[in-house]
Amino acid sequence: MAGNKTRRADSAATPSGNNGFVKLTVRRSDPTAPAVFDVPGAEPMVVLDVLLAAQQHRDASLAFRFSCRAGRCGTCTVRLNGSAVLACQTPVAVSTELVVEPLGGLPVVKDLVVDMAPFHARWSEIVRLVEPGPVVTASGGTDQTLLDSSRECISCGACYAACPVAASGRAFLGPAALARAAGDYAGPAARAPASVMGSRGFTGCHSVGACSVVCPRDLDPALLIRSLRRGRRGRFT
Ligand code: SF4
Ligand code: FES
Repeated sequence: MAGNKTRRADSAATPSGNNGFVKLTVRRSDPTAPAVFDVPGAEPMVVLDVLLAAQQHRDASLAFRFSCRAGRCGTCTVRLNGSAVLACQTPVAVSTELVVEPLGGLPVVKDLVVDMAPFHARWSEIVRLVEPGPVVTASGGTDQTLLDSSRECISCGACYAACPVAASGRAFLGPAALARAAGDYAGPAARAPASVMGSRGFTGCHSVGACSVVCPRDLDPALLIRSLRRGRRGRFT
């Protein structure tokens, strides 16, 4: 089973009564808007709590997205001090400084809200084709747990935003869509659509690996894409 770094730290489950301020710097889409806030906070709290407090107490126009607050929808993904995180699941201590930016590689709508349409179009292209088929049965050294993990993606888009090939503006399907396809098309007997196999698919992957570094669910899209590539070349089953 893939790990999950989206869970709150254990220490965040017990109120400590530690009150104070967090220095929050946000990259605003309007350069004239306030960007630095001293936000009141009390542990336990997460990045999303800080953003909500900043919006409530400092600037109501601060824009960001969230929905489930449970690490399941991916809508709250932002970059925290340069790394993609789920804002609703990332603990913050008082008296710390946070720099929060929108995901890179996607058009900014406002502040921390990005246009996920390019990611969703590619993701839907694959998921529409593979649902609700069974995950392929591994053999010949392919890790079934790895293939099963392809279903744990929450389509947050962090891997797509970090991928230099996707950012190049080409029609590349991107890490999440290809990782999702891996669970269904890894074996040579599976009938993968041409897009999965061609330059829009695993052939277009340059094996940079940024996708696996940033995934807040600890999935390994790069390894899944390699499995897909190996399988299509008939090295297992
Ligand atoms: S593979 Fe990871 S980073 Fe990419 S969309 Fe899925 S959960 Fe997000
Ligand atoms: S709000 Fe759904 S994952 Fe954070």
